[in-house]
Amino acid sequence: MSEYSEKDFDIKSHTTFKIGGKIGEVFFPQNLDEFYEILRLTAYNDLKVFGNLSNTLISSDGYDGKIILTTKMNNIKIDENHVVADAGVKGPMLSQTAAEVGLSGLEFMIGFPGSVGGEVYMNASANSQAISDTLICATCYNKEKGLIKLSKEELEFDYRTSRCQKDDLIVLQAEFELTPKPKEEIKKQMNENLAFRKSHQPSLALPNCGSIFKNPKGDSAGRLLDSIGAKQMQQGGVKVWENHANFIVNHAGGTSYDVLSLMYKMHQAVKREYNIELEPEIRFLGGNNEKENELCQILYQKMPK
Ligand code: EPU
Repeated sequence: MSEYSEKDFDIKSHTTFKIGGKIGEVFFPQNLDEFYEILRLTAYNDLKVFGNLSNTLISSDGYDGKIILTTKMNNIKIDENHVVADAGVKGPMLSQTAAEVGLSGLEFMIGFPGSVGGEVYMNASANSQAISDTLICATCYNKEKGLIKLSKEELEFDYRTSRCQKDDLIVLQAEFELTPKPKEEIKKQMNENLAFRKSHQPSLALPNCGSIFKNPKGDSAGRLLDSIGAKQMQQGGVKVWENHANFIVNHAGGTSYDVLSLMYKMHQAVKREYNIELEPEIRFLGGNNEKENELCQILYQKMPK
């Protein structure tokens, strides 16, 4: 087992938030066989799976369990307009690879720091495209059923969610049916998406985790938060980004407690003003800090584990 794993792994520098303590054991499979072997040998006991850690806040007090990071599972296969990508393939890499062969449908991924597994899990979307638009099926792992291939319909995609979240499914590989298009058109769209991202969202030079809360139905979390003055809010080493109220940036060595406390302030202010309970978009991994656990009970009450 040890050939794929490291114990007491310091995770901070591996997250886009640059926050997080030690993890009990981290596994780094390089392909589907190794991934499956790890799941089998650990009997899947509370094993959690993450990609590029671009959408996850990890407790500064660490996490005592075991996790899998898919960052080394990077295989992409292309056969005409059919693309198969392993869970660890990074969004920009997949977007660019498809563009090189004149395949359209994944242009939105160019500015996403996440990886395919996480993007399927949460049905990532931007600039009028979602991963579920072109996905045809995904190979997943489930504790009871083992390896299963699920069609797009069976994956029950919706805004920032999929069946993977409620049924505890681990995404191992995703298959897409893309549309042939002139390369220049695809690249033009990708450049526009990058320009949008640059002007609307903080670059990773300012450590962050993307949108903090999901948009409530028919409204925008950024607009609601802006209207209650969130851009002036800060806590310890983190603050709300001055150009978009649904981003928290770690500007001065903040901790996970700083982030959760700030999220709580934002959440409560919107609840007081609009009676809307914003739902976090980011995942949280922790458990060792009582104060954080209390905040999570309030913030994550409606969410899957
Ligand atoms: N707005 C404000 N004040 C703010 C921020 C936004 O008034 O401080 C207003 C904007 O003017 C706009 C509206 O809110 O009218 C929506 O803002 P924006 O266009 O920035 O989009 P968003 O809904 O905040 C979503 C996704 C992003 C994705 C963009 C582009 C969510 C939670 N976020 O942002 O996804 O890149 O659309 O399509 O759905 C992510 O998931 O991490 C992410 C960045």
